[in-house]
Amino acid sequence: MSKVWFFVGFVFVSVYVPEFESKVFTKCGLTKELLQNKFDRTLVGNWVCLIESESAKNTSKVIVKANGSKSLGLFQINSKDWCKFGSKGGKCNIKCEDLLDEDIGDDSICAKMVQSELGFRAWEGWVRSCYRRSISVAHC
Ligand SMILES: *[C@@H]1O[C@H](CO)[C@@H](O)[C@H](O)[C@H]1NC(C)=O
Ligand SMILES: *[C@@H]1O[C@H](CO)[C@@H](O)[C@H](O)[C@H]1NC(C)=O
Repeated sequence: MSKVWFFVGFVFVSVYVPEFESKVFTKCGLTKELLQNKFDRTLVGNWVCLIESESAKNTSKVIVKANGSKSLGLFQINSKDWCKFGSKGGKCNIKCEDLLDEDIGDDSICAKMVQSELGFRAWEGWVRSCYRRSISVAHC
């Protein structure tokens, strides 16, 4: 009997998806937030463009990739290499879940690590929408 209940509980926990506090930034709000998180002013237009393309400025966006990994949050950081579900881990040493909340401090540090290792080309959305394009910067 107890085994049955353990199984039922396990299924419940694995199916239950917690609701994250999601936030959708305005272009101006995002620009300010990135500057507060110490993104280089000369590159902020590229970051805003990347985020518009990757997540439509939505902090809780999740895309499941063909190989089973997930791209998470504002910067669509991939779960395979950069974070770990359930506990801190990956190259950024963070919980993947933390990439989906409204606090973009940890996301920002991790995104900068991705960019310094792989460049902006790591993001398909940047290549598609921002590379060799004129980038409009929000003045606010
Ligand atoms: C942001 O993304 C989440 C998760 O995909 C979704 O549930 C939510 O509706 C989105 N918010 C907006 C305003 O599109
Ligand atoms: C899975 O796909 C994602 C996105 O395409 C990629 O970033 C990641 O490196 C892939 N992981 C593996 C182990 O193939």
